[in-house]
Amino acid sequence: MYTEKYLIKKAAPLSGTVEISGSKNAALPVLAASLLCSGKITVLNVPKLSDVDVMLDLLAYFGADVKRSADTVTVDCGSVQNRTPEYETAKKIRASFLLAGALLGRFGSCSMPMPGGCGIGLRPVDLHLKGFSAMGADITLEHGLVHISAPRLHGVSIYLDFPSVGATENIMLAAVYAKGDTCICNCATEPEIVDLAAFINKMGGKIEGAGTDSITVHGVGSLSGCSYGILPDRIEAGTYMLMAAAVSGSDLCIKNVVPQHLAPVIHKLNETGIKIITGEDLIRVDSCGGIKNTDIKTLPYPGFPTDMQAQFMALMTTGKGSGIVRETVFENRFMYVSELNRMGADIKIDGRSAVVNGVSHLSGTAVKATDLRAGAALVTAALMAEGTTEIGEIHHIDRGYENLEEKLRGIGVDICRIREEQ
Ligand code: EPZ
Repeated sequence: MYTEKYLIKKAAPLSGTVEISGSKNAALPVLAASLLCSGKITVLNVPKLSDVDVMLDLLAYFGADVKRSADTVTVDCGSVQNRTPEYETAKKIRASFLLAGALLGRFGSCSMPMPGGCGIGLRPVDLHLKGFSAMGADITLEHGLVHISAPRLHGVSIYLDFPSVGATENIMLAAVYAKGDTCICNCATEPEIVDLAAFINKMGGKIEGAGTDSITVHGVGSLSGCSYGILPDRIEAGTYMLMAAAVSGSDLCIKNVVPQHLAPVIHKLNETGIKIITGEDLIRVDSCGGIKNTDIKTLPYPGFPTDMQAQFMALMTTGKGSGIVRETVFENRFMYVSELNRMGADIKIDGRSAVVNGVSHLSGTAVKATDLRAGAALVTAALMAEGTTEIGEIHHIDRGYENLEEKLRGIGVDICRIREEQ
């Protein structure tokens, strides 16, 4: 057994160009949706991430023919059988629960491990199940497995108490073959939802309203294979923007992005005094002289993304003045704060808010990633910290950042991955 760590030295100003990969949070639902189709699917711009590997393993377990070459994945679900996913594999990623909607849509039943909570919150799936039940499914929970069955799902109007991304996606998947129309009201409007709907429509589905707070899925009889390219990862892009903002004097070009998807992050960075120039598929960050702290409040899209909260907090640890960070989406998304304070930050948590008072500098020490975006925040802090920072538990980071070391080295960062036998 071994553990891997990053060693990151205080960075000189970042410069050059970083290319953004395909979106993890679009690739996972699109790959789950491929189960709905018995034809061959080609998905382009699929990031090489451990979460994606798990989803591909799950599809192969169901009997799909899965092939991967570079960032292209082909999936043929023609001979898929309906079976309960292998518990330990499914438990690795919460997105495995999206297979429920696809299996329900295609086979009319499924049995899935009940997802547990994770570091950032309880992560219930009550809204997913409420949608399936409203469409006519019977649901029982036994020995940690959710058994869902509905010989024929029927269209219905469903109101989501919270615009849950996963619930919106799962109900869309279950509704593709349902009898009649399904309307999902107060649904999520994230760009990844729009990508999933575009993919399903390319297979022959009929989904309208994706990107708005009301989606209508018209049930169809069949889908056919297609080729589809995943949209760029807006959270990866936003993370590199904040890294450039954190290292004063940086001039970084971030390519393969949709600037509109980063609008809340761009507005907040402008408030701190960072200069942002946007092109058609690129964003340039010019961090001339330090930042002024501001307040952020996370909200469902198009609000400030919760997946950027930790990274923005890291940025503000050495900014001028104080900033208030309010996390409204998840109930426990400040676990990384204690690690930043060990580097010399001055952050005080009060429930779902935190106040960060800028300090003169951070200093490198040994810290641990507690979840994916917490890990990204520690990398951002390490770029600013005096000396060398050692980041442990970096398997969390491998879940969501493709080729992080290579991309950071390419813009001037001294980073290396070390392996320690346990
Ligand atoms: C997706 O998670 C993303 N993951 C998350 O990204 C992201 O933080 C989140 O959306 C919000 O944008 C993927 O897309 C794979 P939610 P998801 O359902 O679907 C509550 C990352 O770092 N809720 O919108 O699980 C829930 O408890 C990850 O890439 C219910 O109460 O998020 C949470 O408080 C982290 N009941 C809130 O809604 C439900 O049935 C948002 O959850 C479902 C959710």
